[in-house]
Amino acid sequence: MIAVIGSSNIDIVYEVDHFTEPGETQTALSLNHYYGGKGANQAVAAAKLSNQNILFSTSIGNDSEGKKIKNRFDKFNIKGYFIHGNFHTGQAFIEVNRVGENKIVSNPGANGVHSKALVEKFLKENGEDIDYCLIQNEIPRETIGFALESLKEKEIKIIYDPAAKEKTKIKWLAGIDYLTPNKTEFNYLKEKLNIKEDTLANQALMFKKETGIRNLILKRGSSDIIIVTKDNKLRKVQTFDIEAVDTTGAGDIFNAALAVGLYRGYNLQKACRYASAAAALSVTKKGAQSSIPDQQEIKEMLSKQTF
Ligand code: RIB
Repeated sequence: MIAVIGSSNIDIVYEVDHFTEPGETQTALSLNHYYGGKGANQAVAAAKLSNQNILFSTSIGNDSEGKKIKNRFDKFNIKGYFIHGNFHTGQAFIEVNRVGENKIVSNPGANGVHSKALVEKFLKENGEDIDYCLIQNEIPRETIGFALESLKEKEIKIIYDPAAKEKTKIKWLAGIDYLTPNKTEFNYLKEKLNIKEDTLANQALMFKKETGIRNLILKRGSSDIIIVTKDNKLRKVQTFDIEAVDTTGAGDIFNAALAVGLYRGYNLQKACRYASAAAALSVTKKGAQSSIPDQQEIKEMLSKQTF
């Protein structure tokens, strides 16, 4: 089975002409609420693309937002979530500009109390059934560290998105099966290791060597994905040429589709291509979970653009 450990949010999204400058006041073009949270985006996308039950270790509040999220999880056969009586459901305040880029400020609420104990219980109850586990950085740091360590012990394949980047500890990366940073996250992590190779490819190879990750997948928006495989082969995967209206959640949808592809038995390049199609389709629609494509759309996209 595929599992996810991570956050759930309600996204409060302001469409703006441009990102608000320090000291500036501007009027939003629109305001919308969407289902979000990096963990929940991955869980719902994995459910939608696989038609399978998904296990999801997350925390939501017992408020009206939490109740709506609970109904949504139940509809998608997502199990394992925890409801807290004393904390509100997580929120993310997002600006999306005219070219679809975003800036996100999160207010963690229940995500901030997703504890080691909750993850321990989740893995005790479900660990045997999990083949791939997706995880990101929107829950407490000690919980992430504990979860990664436990997943490694149980030999569950880990797909780790180091977002938000600051929470990542380099020492966690050894033995991670798939690390999927975007450009900003990779630059941040490689600087921590003082990697100064001349080309991105050489930096990626050095990063893999220094950290001990098994496979590195560099997500670069519309530019080719760069992979360093477990046997140190460098591979490129072409992405899709598409006009973005909102990139929120695209990275999460990529990771979920990657997990689904690998779970189906695709090789890493094929799984990345599949994930890239899912992410490309998602940026053509507004919102995070509202932009998850269906299986047929991905099939059509993959058959239209061949290289
Ligand atoms: O990755 C996108 C997500 O990050 C949004 O849905 C928002 O909730 C933040 O967590």
